This record gives sequence, C-alpha cells and structure tokens, in this order.
Amino acid sequence: MSTRPSFHIETFGCQMNERDSEIMAQLLSEGARPCLDINEADIVLVNTCSIREKAAHKAISLLGQLRAEKGQRRRNPIVGVVGCLAQQEGQALLRRLPHVSLVIGPQNIYQLPALLAEAAQGRRLVAVDQSSSFVIPPLAPQAGSGPPHKRFITIMQGCDNFCTYCVVPYTRGREISRDLDQVVAEARTLVEQGVKELILLGQNVNSYGRKAKEGERRTFAELLRAVARLPGLERLRFTSSNPQDLTHELLLAFAELPVLCPHFHLPVQSGSNRVLARMNRRYTRERYLELIAELRSHRPGIAITTDLIVGFPGETEADFDLTCQLVTEVRYHGAFSFKYSDRPQAKAAGFADKVAEEVKARRLSILQGLIDRMAWERNQEFLGRTERVMVEGASPGGQAGQWQGRTGSSHLVHFVSPVALAVGDLLDVRITGAGQHSLRGELP
Ligand code: SAH
Ligand code: SF4
Ligand code: F3S
Repeated sequence: MSTRPSFHIETFGCQMNERDSEIMAQLLSEGARPCLDINEADIVLVNTCSIREKAAHKAISLLGQLRAEKGQRRRNPIVGVVGCLAQQEGQALLRRLPHVSLVIGPQNIYQLPALLAEAAQGRRLVAVDQSSSFVIPPLAPQAGSGPPHKRFITIMQGCDNFCTYCVVPYTRGREISRDLDQVVAEARTLVEQGVKELILLGQNVNSYGRKAKEGERRTFAELLRAVARLPGLERLRFTSSNPQDLTHELLLAFAELPVLCPHFHLPVQSGSNRVLARMNRRYTRERYLELIAELRSHRPGIAITTDLIVGFPGETEADFDLTCQLVTEVRYHGAFSFKYSDRPQAKAAGFADKVAEEVKARRLSILQGLIDRMAWERNQEFLGRTERVMVEGASPGGQAGQWQGRTGSSHLVHFVSPVALAVGDLLDVRITGAGQHSLRGELP
C-alpha cells in the first residue's frame, strides 16, 4: 500500500474555481494521491465560492459536517478552506472552525505544498495576501489532470469593475491578465495532448490586456485569433464577458473564426437602465441590444445566454417588467437568474431600499417561467437539423447505447449509438426531439 497521503478537493462556484482545483490537484500530485471519498482522505480541501449568500452557506455547511464527523472518522484529515470565501473571511475562519488548519486565498494556491507541509507540523495558517502585481505562474498542464477532451485556461485573475452587488473584486483582487504568449503556449500543449475544446476563463475577458503598456497591448480578439490557429483545435469558447467592454473587434471574431463556438454568454443582469446604473454596469439596455444585433449579423443563429438578478435594491415592478420584456425581445437560449443577496464589502449591501424576500421570490419565479418558455421555444428550432455533437459520455441512468454530447451552441443532446464511442468524439446527430433542458437525436 502507498504511504503517500491522500487528498480530496471539493469544489464550489465558477469555472475559475474548477480550474484552480485542477491546479491544486496537479501541485499536490507530486507528494500525495487523489482520493474520491472525502471521508477517507488525509487532506481535505474545500474550494469555496462567495458570490451569493447561498453559495457561501453550502461551503460552510460542508465544513460543519466535517467537524461534526471528526472523531468518528478513521482519519483526522488536515482541512483547508480555499477560494473566495477563504479570501473574504481570512483569520475569522480559523477562529470559527477549530478543525480547519489552512485558509488560502485564490492568489495563494501556488504555495499549497509548502503550506501543507507546515500544517502537517500542527500549525494553523492563513495565506490571503493579494498583490496587484501578482503574476499567475505558468504551469504546463498535465495530461490526465482534467477531462481528456475539453479544458479550461485561466487567462486573467480578478476584476476591477466593482459592480455594486459583486464580491469578486474583493475576493479575487485586481484584474491581472496573463501574457498572451504564455496562454498560447499552454493552449498548444493541451491541443498537442489531444484536447479538442478550450475554454478561456476570466471574470471579464473583454478587458483582457487593458493594463498593458502602450504599444505592448494585445487584445482579447488577438488572443482568440492566436489560439484559434492551433492545428487540431476543434472548439474554442470563453467566459465571462461584461457587455460594457465588448469591442467590434471581438464581435467580428465570430465572423472570422469558425472554431469559435456559436454561443455567447453575455450577462445583462437587468433590463432597466436605472437599475443598471445603480449596479454600476456601464451600458444601457439599448446599447446591449445593439451589441446583440451586431453579434447576430456576424454569426446568424448564434445561441445567446445570460445572467439576471431580480430584487436588486430599489428595483420596482416597472424595472422588473423591463427585464422581462428584454428577455422576450432577445429570446435567450437559456439564462441563469438569481435573487439579489447582500455580499460583504459590496457597495449595494449598504443601499437602503432593499426589496422584500417575498417580492424577490415572486419575481424570480415569474422570470424563470419566462426563461424556461424561451429555452423550450429555442430548442424546438433544432428539430430536423443535423448538428455536430461532441461526445461527453454515456447518458447517466440511460440504457446501454445511450450517449450524450454537446452542440457547438452548448446544447445537451441525448442520442443512441450502436457502436461504443469515446469522450471527445465528434459526430453528426440528427435532432428528433426537443424538451425544456435538452435535445434528443439519432445518428443519420
Ligand atoms: N463576471 C461576470 C459575473 C460573474 S458572477 C459578469 O460580469 O458578468 C456570476 C453571476 O452571479 C453574475 O452575473 C450575477 O448575475 C450573479 N451575482 C453576482 N453577485 C450577486 C449577488 N450579490 N446577488 C445575486 N446574484 C449575484
Ligand atoms: Fe463581478 Fe462585475 Fe466583475 Fe463580473 S464584472 S466579476 S459582476 S464586478
Ligand atoms: Fe464564486 Fe469566486 Fe467564482 S465568488 S463565482 S468562486 S470568482
């Protein structure tokens, strides 16, 4: 039996956290081995999210569970809290949770092996320093440290936009872009390993490179063009995008680069200009609609999805109606919608005119009904079409021969194949059924 300690990483939150967990797993793989069962691991890391109250609660409740079970377990693991909640709470987490030895912010995950070595000596440590000159260390992605067909690349860290509801500028610090050549090198390594789809990550990828010196600035569209050229790459995606920094050059990339998938996630948050201004989202409803029209002119049929917040402080019934009207006008292929919640340090937490919980709940359910109807209608448009689908695996709970994959537009498709398929295979599937959340198809 191996004497190397085992580790388990539990991940909450966005794709940046997922990527950070991969990085941590890679850093740990030198001296430890991964363990699927959280109850069996010698080292348990909880990578937390703090974007909404509910997200923070989930991580705290898992940590509470680990504490309650301590003593009944065969092993007493070293427990580390990582990520956005760790950054936000810092030392306070050590005080609140006596079974936690490490609190590590998103910029500090690269010190993980050294921090763990200290924790193994019985010390309790907090590593949440942030610097605006922090450089994301290049880390050649390892084969096998993530899914074989699609991988994330973090291209920037942090955010400088300070939308008034948002905690990210505090938890992830200042916006820092990685060097273009380094990102392209990482992308090349992955594609050479057989990865077919790359997803470039940042909280606001549209402002990539904006802090570079005059003359050295490389835009996000330039980065996309450079990655798109890599031979063997089948699909390129990115997230997230703040409409305020969307350039014509980037929109044009959808016309120029066939490898760029026909899907754009463009969070709008609200359809009311008054609310947008109070959110510090620096665009208007009209500007947003212009951007969508331009995008559709470059890539007709592109799937557009969004994020929406209901019950932002001061949101009136009329403001909410404007959001519903916008959803109907854009006819989104899908959307995530959330009830506003106060976040520590975020400016809107101090706004006086909070919306009552019942009102938020009612608006959310109306909006979700609308979003679901739009998504269903959009899905019907796929009927009879033949779509290129990338295989993601066997359908969970399906019968033998049932597979699932994704279209370029990110739609989930269930289909039957008489022959065994491999994750990452690309095939044409004729769409024969369309439901609320997925499509059904058959091989032609
Ligand atoms: N950087 C992305 C957003 C990342 S956070 C952007 O600018 O679009 C993901 C989503 O969480 C946001 O788009 C927003 O809809 C939601 N969100 C963020 N803070 C929130 C809060 N305090 N309450 C409710 N939803 C929130
Ligand atoms: Fe948050 Fe706004 Fe930055 Fe997105 S752009 S991460 S919503 S502050
Ligand atoms: Fe959550 Fe941090 Fe991502 S707050 S959404 S994990 S950037």
